[in-house]
Amino acid sequence: MQHYEKRQWQIREYPFRPYALPHTETIYTIGNGLVGVRGSFEEGYPEDNPATLVAGIFNHKEGELVPDLVSMPNWLTLRIQVNDELFRLDRGKILGYERVLDLRTGTHWRGVLWLSPKRDILRLAFERFASLDNPHILAIRVLVQVLNEGEHHIKVYSALDNTVTNPNNIDHWGDIALSSDSDQLFFIGQTDQSVYRVAMQARTAVDGRDVRWEDSSERRIAAHTTAFTLQQNEKITITKYVALHTSRDSDDPPAACAETLSTAVRTGYDALKAAHDSAWAHYWDAADIQIECDELAQRALRFCTYHVLVAVPTHEDRVSIGAKTLSGFGYKGHVFWDTELFMVPPLTLTMPHLARNLLMYRYHNLPGARAKAAEAGYQGAMYPWESTDTGEETTPRWVYDAQNDKHIRIWTGDNEQHISSDIAYAVLQFWDWTGDDDWFARYGAEIVLDTAVFWASRVEYNEVAGRYELRTQIGPDEYHDNIDNSVFTNRLIVWHLQHAEKVWQWLLAQRPQDAVRLADALGIDEALPDRWRDIAARMWIPYSEEGGGVLEQFEGFFERLQPVNLEDYTPRTVNLDWLYGHDRIQSMRVIKQADVVMLMALLGDELGDEAFLNRNWEVYSRIVDHGSSLSPAIHAWVAARLGRIEEAYEHFIYSATIDLEDNKGNVRDGIHAASCGGVWQAVVFGFCGLHLTPEGPRIDPKLPSHWRSVRFKVIYQGKPYEFVIKGQGE
Ligand code: BGC
Repeated sequence: MQHYEKRQWQIREYPFRPYALPHTETIYTIGNGLVGVRGSFEEGYPEDNPATLVAGIFNHKEGELVPDLVSMPNWLTLRIQVNDELFRLDRGKILGYERVLDLRTGTHWRGVLWLSPKRDILRLAFERFASLDNPHILAIRVLVQVLNEGEHHIKVYSALDNTVTNPNNIDHWGDIALSSDSDQLFFIGQTDQSVYRVAMQARTAVDGRDVRWEDSSERRIAAHTTAFTLQQNEKITITKYVALHTSRDSDDPPAACAETLSTAVRTGYDALKAAHDSAWAHYWDAADIQIECDELAQRALRFCTYHVLVAVPTHEDRVSIGAKTLSGFGYKGHVFWDTELFMVPPLTLTMPHLARNLLMYRYHNLPGARAKAAEAGYQGAMYPWESTDTGEETTPRWVYDAQNDKHIRIWTGDNEQHISSDIAYAVLQFWDWTGDDDWFARYGAEIVLDTAVFWASRVEYNEVAGRYELRTQIGPDEYHDNIDNSVFTNRLIVWHLQHAEKVWQWLLAQRPQDAVRLADALGIDEALPDRWRDIAARMWIPYSEEGGGVLEQFEGFFERLQPVNLEDYTPRTVNLDWLYGHDRIQSMRVIKQADVVMLMALLGDELGDEAFLNRNWEVYSRIVDHGSSLSPAIHAWVAARLGRIEEAYEHFIYSATIDLEDNKGNVRDGIHAASCGGVWQAVVFGFCGLHLTPEGPRIDPKLPSHWRSVRFKVIYQGKPYEFVIKGQGE
């Protein structure tokens, strides 16, 4: 591959930037949908934050408000000594350093030339990957070479290190057992509340040498050490194979590990890597978007797509993708609407079987959603705002606001109810775009209908005004708690109920047995579809004369809230709610993130004509704080549709580089996964104008003027399509 082309597939750090480690640990995360591994160093670094997280392995520690993803033993640990000097980047002198995240193959590579305190010149090259071919296999290979004269004593220490805990030293393990036996390391643990059993087994080998390993284990560390000599310039490689299984995938995780490890060792590093690379080649063949004449956009877009791909579960359908993927502890691994509206659509169009896994997570968690509705006194299914492995509501009720030294009640778990329609939207979109009637009749319909049952019991009828209303909500704009008649929510309910009614007619006509089954299970009587139609027809959609006539974000939005001129606050890196605090922001007319604009992205011209959409844009895009990373990509998408290409491009580049540039200063907590999915949509639906019609996919491109071309593939109703769109760029 040409150097120029290669650069567009690589994230590169050169030279080492110690202060950026928390950021780079996140962005250099590797993964395979089952496991996420932060980009920490094998030898460690002061105050580093290594973490290996496994999809679905949550634990609710006693005394904590909510469950958390559990930090696994650190399998990266591999320390090398040359002539008794321990290699670490804060010791000796770095003569050369380069690190590459190869997006094309999901591989983390790091080369170092190091001068030890004794002036030995050590050359190391580390490569690691989490196999996409077999997600239970992780591997590292290190090349070791000493360049100065003499015979050199090399010592290698390799471990599964369970002293690595969750933030705030939370230790989720109950029983653990760690040991080493010759070249093998063993970990068996059980989480203390969720009682997941996890096993890891590793083997470290010095290739081509029959070395002796000594046990160096400690109470919470399984470790072994070996020593050998190297002549000047002699090259040697050390390979560490790791197997990981949990009680989510096996009845006997240690036995499964033993088997996986022995297969991995037998297969060998090169063949494992080749299988991994070829699995990645399939991913990219489906999901890559190629942009000509914009290197920044190309690389950033691939980076965003990569982080959705490393997070999407391939191995089971009872887990989903957390807001920060498996790349950090932000939001404790919890799942939000981020998955369905931001990450699912690109997957539905490129790898529908993976999108289906994510939607099945919601299907399996219908019991949790029903319990939540029942607890609040409603019927049907009300999905939790945040969820984990159990499908229960896991939003913390309180958070500590350090800035103002007080605890704040978080209402989203109670009242950010639009998530039920967001999920229904994604399910209906999946059905429409895949044409998978069997899946829909068997699983999807139940989600759409039971959430519709919920809304019918939830909305309130206002006798005086003769309309349906919905009080005490939180829309996407979380700067305003417990407002009435969120236009986003109300309008999406209308869409949802209109479709629920059609789904019901379709079932009766096409799948009568499923209709009977669902009527029984969900309590759908003859009157309910009529009620859905009635609510959809008479649901209040708040409207205001502001700006010549626009949707009103919620009741009283323009009358009650004080206007803020956001231009006065530029440049600014902090969010306005941080500056003013949670209470004051409630009365200010500034919005956290795309809300009406989000609705414009989802419903497009169903909302109104172009003039109307432009008026809404003029009003709402001027008062948005982008206090959530979910916001800019959606603005890029909608601005592109409105032909505001300069504005769209600005939002697009900002969102595409949110993680790479740490634009929000919080990437240490994990990747902004929704933004990553949003960026893909901004290009495909925004700039390229893809729309899916009954006659097939159509485009209506409005490309940035410097793009020469965009190329992407989709699968629509089972058929592959490839688009090559020519632009004006040279
Ligand atoms: C946003 C939500 C989002 C959550 C997780 C919040 O800051 O306002 O829309 O779901 O972060 O990404």
